[in-house]
Amino acid sequence: MARYVINGGKPLNGTVTISGAKNAAVAILPATLLVSGKCRIENVPYISDIDAMGNILYEMGAKITCPERNVLEIDCTGVQCTEPNPDLVRKMRASYYLMGALLGRFGKAKVALPGGCSFASRPIDQHIKGFLLLGADVDDTDEFVALEPGPEGLQGNRISLDMASVGATINIMLAACLIPGQTIIENAAKEPHIVDLANFLNTMGARITGAGTDTVKIRGVNALHGGTYTIIPDQIEAGTYMAAVTAAGGNVLVQNVIPKHMECITSKLQEMGARVINYDDSIRVIRTGKLRRSTVKTRPYPGFPTDMQAQVCVCMALANGVSRLTESVYETRFFGYCAELESMGANIKISGKTATVTGVEKLRGATVCAHDLRAGAALVIAGLAAEGVTHVEHIHFVERGYESLVRKLTALGADIRRIED
Ligand code: EPU
Repeated sequence: MARYVINGGKPLNGTVTISGAKNAAVAILPATLLVSGKCRIENVPYISDIDAMGNILYEMGAKITCPERNVLEIDCTGVQCTEPNPDLVRKMRASYYLMGALLGRFGKAKVALPGGCSFASRPIDQHIKGFLLLGADVDDTDEFVALEPGPEGLQGNRISLDMASVGATINIMLAACLIPGQTIIENAAKEPHIVDLANFLNTMGARITGAGTDTVKIRGVNALHGGTYTIIPDQIEAGTYMAAVTAAGGNVLVQNVIPKHMECITSKLQEMGARVINYDDSIRVIRTGKLRRSTVKTRPYPGFPTDMQAQVCVCMALANGVSRLTESVYETRFFGYCAELESMGANIKISGKTATVTGVEKLRGATVCAHDLRAGAALVIAGLAAEGVTHVEHIHFVERGYESLVRKLTALGADIRRIED
């Protein structure tokens, strides 16, 4: 077990470089199963979820090398396996993308149900609905999902999602690339990593249009070929550093970002008193004065991301007045961190989908426990802003999604150490 020890109360100053997007990378790695030839993928974040996905592919027979930091070369041409190791699959959420990728490549798959952050019930009925409409026979148990071609084989189809699910949109895109005919996903999710996956697949020869809108069209092709692709910067990692400066104070240039992806986060942090200056591929965040109350409701992209709920809650905890934070994607997400923030002196009342946060003058250091990735990131921010020493336990959750967090924060002047117990 490892933990972070943070001696808080110091403003953050300097420059931080954002890594490649986790949620794009965890979709692009399994997408290489669809490709005949070598994929060179650049700007891959160096995080434990990528290790986990890399291990799954490697065990399945993929050739994987890391010629330099943040670059992976993956060749899945020789892969024959359609049943990835269930113990590895259960280690992460995004392993469910193996279902779509294997269905697309081999027409069949048997994949254990995924693990990962369990801050809410996370059903996959929309993924299954998509596979069924593409002509698969689905055997869906409590342990695994088994897919086979149905009596009429696999064929493109029109699939209207009941909700704009990121995972279902990606899984159907993966499954449909090599299936004959046209697949149309209606009510598709529009998150930046969906566009990034489509760009990766199109670079390798797929025919996908409309990614980033609510209608994605995939025209099946016979094969995908190798190539080189660079993953976009991580919207949530960038937002987390922006929230950290907003909470702890200081002046930080957040570089390697796409400011357009940050608009909703930027506008809320500005409303709360941060000064935000956009450049072409970087954003400066300055916070010197007192924070102001705000109202935030999480929504699918381009709305305020649920993956930034916990981080903005820390800013609210330190703002003047009463803020309201409403979660509309995962209702139970507050339970992963609000009690921990309260042990640091925050005043938060949860009623259904809404947290009412009454700002306090100061948070104080405490021993707190990360229950999931973003909750853990929020506790780190709280520790940076708090007076005294904070111990954040269970940091393996945080290391799933934040590359070199200690090194990056230390370079900004934070006093944070990673201790192995
Ligand atoms: N939903 C269903 N049925 C489905 C799929 C989703 O009811 O078949 C519901 C979910 O329960 C949820 C909503 O639809 O209420 C949205 O879920 P979505 O499928 O969009 O989420 P996801 O694909 O499981 C991805 C990210 C999450 C992020 C959400 C929302 C990855 C690997 N994960 O999850 O990221 O919170 O989209 O934006 O891309 C994180 O990075 O910390 C993280 C949890």
